[in-house]
Amino acid sequence: METLFFRVTLAAAAFALLLSATSAQQFKPNYDESKVPDYNLPDPLLFAVGDKVKTPADWTQRRRGEILRLFETEMYGKTPMGRPKEMTFEVKCIDKKALGGKAIRKEVSIYFIGKKDGPKMDLLIYLPADATKAVPVFLVPNFNGNHAVHADPAITLSKEWMRPDAKDGVVDNKATEKTRGSEASRFSLDDILAAGYGLATFYYGDLDPDFDDGFQNGVQPLFYKAGQKRPAANEWGAIGAWAWGCSRALDYLETDADVDATKVIVMGHSRLGKTALWAGAQDQRFAIVISNNSGEGGAAITRRRFGETIWRINTSFPHWFCNNFRKYNDKEDDLPVDAHMLIALVAPRPVYVASAEEDQWADPRGEFLACLHADPVYKLLGTDGLPAKEMPKLNAPVLGTIGYHNRSGKHDVTRYDWEQYIKFADKQLKKGAN
Ligand code: GCU
Repeated sequence: METLFFRVTLAAAAFALLLSATSAQQFKPNYDESKVPDYNLPDPLLFAVGDKVKTPADWTQRRRGEILRLFETEMYGKTPMGRPKEMTFEVKCIDKKALGGKAIRKEVSIYFIGKKDGPKMDLLIYLPADATKAVPVFLVPNFNGNHAVHADPAITLSKEWMRPDAKDGVVDNKATEKTRGSEASRFSLDDILAAGYGLATFYYGDLDPDFDDGFQNGVQPLFYKAGQKRPAANEWGAIGAWAWGCSRALDYLETDADVDATKVIVMGHSRLGKTALWAGAQDQRFAIVISNNSGEGGAAITRRRFGETIWRINTSFPHWFCNNFRKYNDKEDDLPVDAHMLIALVAPRPVYVASAEEDQWADPRGEFLACLHADPVYKLLGTDGLPAKEMPKLNAPVLGTIGYHNRSGKHDVTRYDWEQYIKFADKQLKKGAN
């Protein structure tokens, strides 16, 4: 009897999964601006009790915390605080003559509970070889393993689970030699080094492999209380784990004398753009935050329901956000926050949001509007915010303390994007130079 019951339940669960996967495929996104519904955005400058946020101290001491709590409990889930006590670093190799003498390459393992055979993340770092002092660094999580960011044969090949993508030479969910450099076009390493910056990168799957396994792998189980089997409805999902990884990478960078850890720029593309925003919102040690084509659940105003929606993202990627976020499937207006408030959490630190014209799924206009509506918070905190009232033309970046551009072309990270990020970082870091 029990077995039969179990089988029926299992079959029903499998059927529900199939049904939701099919309906996610059949989803028809709205790409018609005239069909964007009317909506009211929550005001970042009103306290929960309704009175106005008037001074920078009002924001910093009270309102910022209120908004952060809402993102934690309703969207990304709460993340365990700070650096684990037992965590250790191991610098595995340093090559001072990497990339034909242009760069110093380091590989560092970060052991979350201090055990070499325990859970870890591997950080790959390139620094300009001719630097005479500690350099600012772009911290950029990657999709395909550290060895995918450059064809450099000396980078250790990741042994972790990879998303199936035969084109890139992933076999049985493992990377092969063929995958070296497969993501290189998204990193513009030569430009980064030539501009005097370092690059630090890690494979996001080191923190949580990107599939829905009920949170049995990845870092979440490290923090389960006795008897706990999965995160509670208000606890972190995969994006929370990837963002946590950004902070742990920064923990290491703070110990590296070749790196100016007060100038670490966290940047990410797409789901990792959502991650970069969430990392920068929570961890104020990040000097600058850059979101590349992050879209729904990132920089795009969700109330617009343009392109991807909350229902669609929760259905296709049930492991990215916390379970509470599902309450807002097709109920965008009930969500007590929206993307402009996520960007505001970065204030007064510089933030850059980049869209791509053909990436309508991520709603370029919604990404711009989030910047525009974050502007009052940036202004309250004494910066120039976003120096634009209208969406700028294609390939015409706006560079205030909030930066924005809409590039021609597809969902991707291109050399053009990197040129803007470097220009933005140059300007913003020089402003704060000590
Ligand atoms: C999908 C998903 C997006 C995400 C993107 C990516 O398109 O719907 O939300 O940003 O994948 O990460 O590549």
